[in-house]
Amino acid sequence: MRVLVTGGMGYIGSHTCVQMIEAGMTPIIVDNLYNSKETVLARIEKLTGVRPAFFEGDIRDRAFLDNVLAQANVESVLHFAGLKAVGESVEKPLEYYDNNVHGTLVLVEAMRAAGINSLIFSSSATVYGEPETVPITEDFPTSATNPYGRSKLMVEECLADIQKALPEMSITLLRYFNPVGSHQSGEMGEDPQGIPNNLMPFISQVAVGRREYLSVFGNDYSTVDGTGVRDYIHVVDLADGHLAALNSKGKEAGLHIYNLGTGNGFSVLQMVAAFSKAAGVEVAYQLAPRRAGDIAECWADPSKARAELHWEATRTIEDMTADTWRWQSNNPNGYPDV
Ligand code: NAD
Ligand code: UFG
Repeated sequence: MRVLVTGGMGYIGSHTCVQMIEAGMTPIIVDNLYNSKETVLARIEKLTGVRPAFFEGDIRDRAFLDNVLAQANVESVLHFAGLKAVGESVEKPLEYYDNNVHGTLVLVEAMRAAGINSLIFSSSATVYGEPETVPITEDFPTSATNPYGRSKLMVEECLADIQKALPEMSITLLRYFNPVGSHQSGEMGEDPQGIPNNLMPFISQVAVGRREYLSVFGNDYSTVDGTGVRDYIHVVDLADGHLAALNSKGKEAGLHIYNLGTGNGFSVLQMVAAFSKAAGVEVAYQLAPRRAGDIAECWADPSKARAELHWEATRTIEDMTADTWRWQSNNPNGYPDV
């Protein structure tokens, strides 16, 4: 199966490409390298023996996409490309709506022109806003509290309208919970530019000595120990969820929506303890005020994906922390520039 992978040089896209190649599929990557490095390709090749085709360019550039699709001969599109930092989205809403919403619309127009009907979109548990209860099922109400989340929600709504008008299309919305971890080889992982926004890369940069301590944002939530609880999912399990979607619902016309999570919640302090144990390094932390916009707890009910995609996450917190540490300690400064 030949599949276009937008954002395939990024964190989740690159791990998905490895899993695809190992399953005998052919990913064709489009990425503008805004938040990734071309050296990712060499790591994919090292792990799989295959260097995927890569087209450097922007999904908002229709002529570029038409040219890629004319050569690529793909039957489906995995759409990871986009901007993802919540705080930055508040400062730069235009860029978020332009990249995430406009970018997706240009992509779908180009797919239509090329006769491609199958799209799998990287959505987020952020579309559930502040859930009233946990675990979260796919029919929970949706809402947004920041421009990033609103851009994901807008794309979901646009895609639902498009699928209704074009019933031959297969559109799958995958709502990721908290992706963490790295390929178990330690060759690939998350490589945030600048100060990490997310918990796991921050913890691992403290462990490797790039940062002094972690600020724990709030210890007065009504959770197991007062700190925020999330459903952390290993990035390779998440990648496999895309393969499961491609091979099942991605071949069926309709609008398909799935949570990709584990169904388990871990607190910030539980993650710090698990990481310290895996790395054999004490992770220094300080208690700090709550971060604006954070919710107390959030985890998935993953049973719909299990029943319909025949997929479930199998990797544990020990796997997530050990694999992250292997990547971080082997590559303290992330991917090389060249
Ligand atoms: P990432 O930043 O590592 O990867 C995104 C890739 O898209 C990057 O390589 C970037 O250069 C590329 N890109 C961005 N805008 C582009 C454009 N206009 N044209 C071409 N390429 C472009 O992010 P990630 O963590 O791999 O996330 C992938 C997707 O999953 C994103 O859509 C993100 O919103 C979504 N998501 C991520 C998380 C998470 O916590 N990582 C959670 C939920 C959903
Ligand atoms: N946290 C800290 N210190 C930090 C970073 C995070 O204490 O330096 C805490 C947060 O307060 C939260 C937990 O760690 O309780 C997880 O925070 P992350 O920033 O790692 O993840 P979020 O759940 O806030 O958000 C992530 C993505 C969003 C996505 C959401 C759901 O950043 O884009 O998961 O998928 F929408």
